[in-house]
Amino acid sequence: MAKQASRRKPQPKGKGPESVRILISRTRIQRRITEMAREIRRDFPGEPLHLVGVLKGAVFFLTDLGKQISGDVSFDFIAVSSYGAGTHSSGQVRLTRDLDSSIEGKTVIVVEDILDTGMTLQYLLRVFEQRKPKQLRVAVLLDKPERRIAAVHADYVGFKIPNEFVVGYGLDYAERYRNMPDVGVLSLGVGGDKAKQSG
Ligand code: IMP
Ligand code: MG
Repeated sequence: MAKQASRRKPQPKGKGPESVRILISRTRIQRRITEMAREIRRDFPGEPLHLVGVLKGAVFFLTDLGKQISGDVSFDFIAVSSYGAGTHSSGQVRLTRDLDSSIEGKTVIVVEDILDTGMTLQYLLRVFEQRKPKQLRVAVLLDKPERRIAAVHADYVGFKIPNEFVVGYGLDYAERYRNMPDVGVLSLGVGGDKAKQSG
């Protein structure tokens, strides 16, 4: 992608290990999550809320958000695999683990790590709408609006970010970096572009 390449620092040829530059610190993440939790509770006062986390990327976001929402909150998880090789979506979404319990009649908040092309959420929202929840909302920690293909909307967005590949706080590159407490931009060393991305 010419646009993306021009914004990045050129990597020295034949050198350059992978590196991560912090984009959103753990402190900012936690502060924003506290605000989002208040917003959500303000929108649904007194309502039992059912958080549905999309594995694996949303796991830290869901646990931190869930702790900050007051009142009656329950959780469930779903897993999808959406990507082929590389850091770009193939647009093919497949359900790999379904929810444990029915969402019929519940106020559901889908909790996702990042809204990128929107293909994953579009697929999930279609699946969930068929199951007749009372209300269905979407909370994402990160939003990359430049990359959107599917017309999906998130009701709660933590941070809008530029079109860069990010890792940390649940987000991975080939299953690595999920445990980083901050979100950072990944620069790949020379020759290391095509790893499988999941969850
Ligand atoms: P979408 O279907 O293109 O919106 O992609 C959503 C999924 O792709 C997210 O749940 C992530 O698992 C993954 N993803 C998208 N962008 C990134 C990124 O910058 N870093 C890590 N994972 C990403
Ligand atoms: Mg994900």
